Amino acid sequence: MSIDLTAASITEVVQKTFEDAEDERVKELLVRLVQHLHDFTREVRLTGEEWFKVMDFLERVGKTCTPTRQEFVLLSDILGLSVLVDLIHHPGGGSATDSTLLGPFYVEGRPTAKNGSDISGEVDGPPLFFNGQVLDPDGNPVAGAKVDTWHSDGEGLYDVQMPDKLHGQLAMRALLTTDDEGRFWYRSVAPRYYPVPTDGPCGEILRAANRSPMRPEHVHFWLHAEGFEPLITMLVRRDDPYVERDAVFGVRRSLVVDFVEHDAGETAPDGTCMDESFQAVEGTFVLARKER
Ligand SMILES: [Fe+2]
Repeated sequence: MSIDLTAASITEVVQKTFEDAEDERVKELLVRLVQHLHDFTREVRLTGEEWFKVMDFLERVGKTCTPTRQEFVLLSDILGLSVLVDLIHHPGGGSATDSTLLGPFYVEGRPTAKNGSDISGEVDGPPLFFNGQVLDPDGNPVAGAKVDTWHSDGEGLYDVQMPDKLHGQLAMRALLTTDDEGRFWYRSVAPRYYPVPTDGPCGEILRAANRSPMRPEHVHFWLHAEGFEPLITMLVRRDDPYVERDAVFGVRRSLVVDFVEHDAGETAPDGTCMDESFQAVEGTFVLARKER
């Protein structure tokens, strides 16, 4: 009976209200969510004051979100939830490249770019040359694959974090298409390790726990190709000081690669004789076939 509730009985009463849900999966999710939320609340004996703090926190997370600032994604990331969802469905160990989290800095509306072009926009910094190849599980090239790529600048900032400097223009991100050999390549500026944004509510959690906000140097990729599963992944710099302690748990061993430093006077992968130092990174991405 819902007028004779106890701290023990309320859970089942609430769960029964979902019984008529038409969608079985929605019903399962809501019933199990209530079970775990109530169990958590009983376990820690959440106080009214703490509950108000949680509500206020979530309200502020929502108010911090904008089209280019995804605080809820960041909250999910720092709690390990984003990576957990990915690990459940993409445990790795197969022939396909491991996936990882999307992160909060992917934005819609990125420009398309031709292979070999400079995608750095108006951002200065030591050049980065990226050369990638997309393969199927048998090692054959995947031509015409769409490859989204995005990364930070040499200060660890993404374009959307410096709208004034860039006059709102997107930079260091593009959508490329693989050639007949499955290859894609571009020039940009070298990224760097960076802290996740700590000026919002998520920063309060990191500070309260004395946790590092840092992510190691990396470049993001989101690949799509006809007949294959989409792949969200990134490549991480092997000798980065934060490679073993990513604030959002997104590094997987198979995604750690060499970001090779070259001196001025050396020849870049595109054949340019460089008068400044630069980084060169290579990556091979194996897509999983879509199950029919
Ligand atoms: Fe990132």
